[in-house]
Amino acid sequence: MSPDTASPLILAIDQGTTSSRAVLFDQQLRAINQAQEAFAQAYPNPGWVEQDAMDIWHTVLNCCRQLLTPDTLHRVKAIGITNQRETTIVWDRQTGEPIAPAIVWQDRRTHAFCAALRAQKRDALIREKTGLPIDPYFSGSKIRWLLDTVPDARARAERGELAFGTVDCWLLWQLTGGQRHATDATNASRTQLFNIHTQTWDKDLLELFDIPAAMLPQVLDSAADFGHTDPALLGVSVPVLGVAGDQQAATIGQQCLAAGQAKCTFGTGAFLMLNTGNRAVTSDNRLLTTLAYRLDNQVHYALEGSVFIAGSAVQWLRDGLKIINRSADTEALVQSIKSDHGVMMVPAFTGLGAPHWRADARAAIFGMELSTGPAQLAYACLQSIALQVFDLLQAIKADGQRMDVLKIDGGMTANEWFVEQLAWITQTPLFRPDWQESTVLGAARLAAHQLGWCDLSDTGSPANPGTQFAPAAAGADRDQLLARWQAAIAATLVFAE
Ligand code: G3P
Repeated sequence: MSPDTASPLILAIDQGTTSSRAVLFDQQLRAINQAQEAFAQAYPNPGWVEQDAMDIWHTVLNCCRQLLTPDTLHRVKAIGITNQRETTIVWDRQTGEPIAPAIVWQDRRTHAFCAALRAQKRDALIREKTGLPIDPYFSGSKIRWLLDTVPDARARAERGELAFGTVDCWLLWQLTGGQRHATDATNASRTQLFNIHTQTWDKDLLELFDIPAAMLPQVLDSAADFGHTDPALLGVSVPVLGVAGDQQAATIGQQCLAAGQAKCTFGTGAFLMLNTGNRAVTSDNRLLTTLAYRLDNQVHYALEGSVFIAGSAVQWLRDGLKIINRSADTEALVQSIKSDHGVMMVPAFTGLGAPHWRADARAAIFGMELSTGPAQLAYACLQSIALQVFDLLQAIKADGQRMDVLKIDGGMTANEWFVEQLAWITQTPLFRPDWQESTVLGAARLAAHQLGWCDLSDTGSPANPGTQFAPAAAGADRDQLLARWQAAIAATLVFAE
């Protein structure tokens, strides 16, 4: 078959918090090959989380190169990008060199600045414009920190010499050989500088955070012409046609395209997004109002519950405590005991996100005895992840929002025990697709939409094939568990004060 007549492909990139991946999809959007590479995180100070922006880029490039063989190279018609959100990179437009390590979304170093903004009563204004509470999680305070801390950075930014980008934007800059400085509206909506109603960078917020407009990227729809790759990099010039933050991409990958449809993705953290259609719903219960996606200049909004720690707590059992060899080992371990034995974990390793928004909170384990061992810790760890999702669902309920379906995905959902606990604790039927890599599928779907291979405006698209999990009956033991959870959260917050 000549390259032109062979079946066309999409290359989707998923740049996550702990690894980079690339997946090749055929025209039916079936994954046909994939590559993955992990990279290092650095914790140089308490509360700090950094990555090397060059590592981010090189791991992505390696994954793409692994997939682009003589057989596939000329069949790739488009690239889709999805990424860890909020992570902040500032680089020199001339040299392409980052001016500092990437400040990761989990990083809490700007806690004092955010507390000062709250003390100045800026919350209402910021929430009104961006849908977000003041928290170090978002990019705005991170950019400001870089401009205030890296010698000469502010003056260079004001002269237009520096560029800011979230990870999608950084990758796009690299892939296009420095030709495009652009992002999509979902990623822009996580900076705390973007007005989600007017869909523009907000002058008042730029002033408040003291950030020069000259360093900001152009904002496009999630399916758009983001430019072509530099042929020197991949051996071919391919258009980038889809970009979205990873949680938004998972929302698309899970076909949550109509109001009332929700998904929760269990990756490093756990992020629940409820599609609210063309309405930007304000939460009275500390959920975020954010963009689900922007297509054909139409904004689709979502309510989001952001839980900072999910898979990374399991990773801590593996790499920190070294009580398991692989994350999957937790399943057999928790099944070896019948209950949590009174042990409860609050996994606030990087503070607490929704609905508490306490950047100063830190993780705690309650109720340990001398007999407490790996099984009890693993049990408490998995249970705490489900309990955090319970809190999010309570917030959605208290906001009076309708949720017709909750779809789950991400690495942890392969763990049947965890999924059953989650259904039981939340008393919510769950839908798990057979292929749980919804994030990268969403990036491919965005590119496919732009190519005309699928239509994401069709809100009636059927769900991906998968399995329903019905919750086991709630009993007194669940009530007790929830009461202990509330007590543990309260104690953790008191300890942080
Ligand atoms: O907002 C942070 C989020 O995008 C990170 O996602 O997949 O690393 O949990 P993940």
